[in-house]
Amino acid sequence: MKALVLSGGRGTRLRPITYTGAKQLVPVANKPILWYGIEAIVKTGITDIGIIISPETGHQVREKTGDGSRFGARITYILQESPDGLAHAVKVARPFLADSPFIMYLGDNLIADDLQEYLDEFKSRNLDALILLRKVSNPRAFGVAKLDENGRVLELVEKPQNPPSNLALVGIYFFSPAIHEVIEKLKPSARGELEITDAIQALIERGKSVEARQLKNWWLDTGKKDDLLEANRIILDTTLPPGEKPDLVENSQIIGRVKIGKNTSVINSTIRGPVIIGDNCRIENCFIGPYSSIADGVTLVDVDIEHSVVLENAEVKGIQQRIVDSVIGQRAKIYFQPKRPRALSFMVGDDSIIELA
Ligand code: DAU
Repeated sequence: MKALVLSGGRGTRLRPITYTGAKQLVPVANKPILWYGIEAIVKTGITDIGIIISPETGHQVREKTGDGSRFGARITYILQESPDGLAHAVKVARPFLADSPFIMYLGDNLIADDLQEYLDEFKSRNLDALILLRKVSNPRAFGVAKLDENGRVLELVEKPQNPPSNLALVGIYFFSPAIHEVIEKLKPSARGELEITDAIQALIERGKSVEARQLKNWWLDTGKKDDLLEANRIILDTTLPPGEKPDLVENSQIIGRVKIGKNTSVINSTIRGPVIIGDNCRIENCFIGPYSSIADGVTLVDVDIEHSVVLENAEVKGIQQRIVDSVIGQRAKIYFQPKRPRALSFMVGDDSIIELA
């Protein structure tokens, strides 16, 4: 059994954060989203993992994630020249996958369920495809499944205008090598992509054994800002260990589950967990409220922030109002300029969103 993790694509929905970085490397609780999937796969005992990368962001994914030794796995990077669809990625990975059954895992998906139970079912029932489903309120944004009264999969449609149900396809699939035969014959969809949804539909039409299971716990597709903040909230809530007393804390209150990295100084501040703060940060005269993740090298001075994600080496100083529900990109700078107290001055990247109140 092998695994194929998709970390290519364009990442348009997390712009501007993804102009300079792969969306799968955006951190959730200070760890790249992609790594949660790799860890879940390795936990099932699968260690032969292929990762699909794009020409634009592939080098970053490779550099950050390495050869797999940090996960106890062997990683093979597979370049997909252009994001021509999920089934196209499988096609490109064929030499790596050979005739092995495999888990396909979309690198921006996070689930709470263990993969083991589903993997065992896939193997013991000798299936050609096992798909995972979850009820959603906005099925138009996903692949959607129609089931019969016995739970058998009748039909799958990608991002339908009139969804046949509210059961969305989760971005984690189990396939036998039969998937390759149908992908060979697949035609691009209306949006010009080789859709994995169409490939699974073709398996159903050929009478292959395709089954679905509904996830028992939460699922997040971290494609957009609110999903990212929600993923951050849930992961901090469920995985952060009880707080430890950090060394470089002066005149500050640390309340609840707070993790503070090496060489980070906290001066004259209150931190109310769950909060994670990386290495080499400077936190001075701040309130850092629940569900905040502060990455390595961040400077926060005279700042009141909660339910937010601040990426590496960002600097925020002297902001008079509380910052909430925000994602602040790598090396971004937000300052209060005392010499021009009533004026606002911006150098804002394309597709940025600033809400002032
Ligand atoms: O998240 C679940 C949904 O994922 C499913 O419900 C849909 O059926 C499925 O098509 C997919 O939809 P998305 O629109 O969310 O897919 P997206 O284009 O965001 O790509 C998912 C991941 O795969 C992402 O990490 C980028 C990567 N990717 C995508 C394409 C199109 C590639 O590596 N290569 C590609 O060609």
